[in-house]
Amino acid sequence: MSYDARFRVWRGDADGGELVDYTVEVNDGEVVLDIIHRLQATQSGDLAVRWNCKAGKCGSCSAEINGMPRLLCMTRMSTFTEAETITVTPLRAFPVIRDLVTDVSFNYAKARQIPAFAPPDLAPGEYRMQQVDVERSQEFRKCIECFLCQDTCHVVRDHEDNKEAFAGPRFLIRAAELDMHPLDARDDRADFAREEQGIGMCNITKCCTEVCPEHIKITDNAIIPMKERVAGRRYDPLVWLGTKIGLRRG
Ligand code: SF4
Ligand code: SF4
Ligand code: FES
Repeated sequence: MSYDARFRVWRGDADGGELVDYTVEVNDGEVVLDIIHRLQATQSGDLAVRWNCKAGKCGSCSAEINGMPRLLCMTRMSTFTEAETITVTPLRAFPVIRDLVTDVSFNYAKARQIPAFAPPDLAPGEYRMQQVDVERSQEFRKCIECFLCQDTCHVVRDHEDNKEAFAGPRFLIRAAELDMHPLDARDDRADFAREEQGIGMCNITKCCTEVCPEHIKITDNAIIPMKERVAGRRYDPLVWLGTKIGLRRG
């Protein structure tokens, strides 16, 4: 069965734009990305949208649907009533290039700042890891880098001036993943999270967790444990004493 849906899609570029109304056919089983493709094919050949897999795995088709950060390819049309108007806009936290395509290079810059995995002083073949340690960081490896969490985080969403000091939830889970890695030889991941990634600016509202399409428990499993590590290193009297007598880094 098909019906005609009302869509409002943001059209424009870095110099400005507006919401444009469309009426477009919807068929059973379709997702919002199907409708955007039908708009391109039938009414607006120059509508810009970024996508690759249409399977929720490449993280390219991130946008905002009725104001909520979502993947266009994983949002079923059946979640809306036939009467409602569906608004599709680009990610608000990043500069618009054109229509639904934004410049997400902020995220790549933050990724580059994180010190890489540091292998231990062991010969190849001597690495040993417990299964439980593998499982702990496995959850974070599911990240598809859609940056929906980065888009929704209120620390940067409406505060461009915070971007320099705050890495955002996606990169705080990367810090946690490396910190929890039993073979990572660096002992300053928590210091980096505090000094360079601005973990103190996160007030654990969990908005990032709510929008993650991979259902990663960003706040509970990554950010809160990292905050505890940061607090422990800063205020634990034993850490302080160790620092003073040169046993470990502060
Ligand atoms: S929990 Fe922290 S990182 Fe996540 S959205 Fe809230 S402030 Fe941002
Ligand atoms: S943590 Fe989740 S929401 Fe954030 S970039 Fe990765 S998959 Fe997307
Ligand atoms: S097109 Fe790949 S996640 Fe949507």
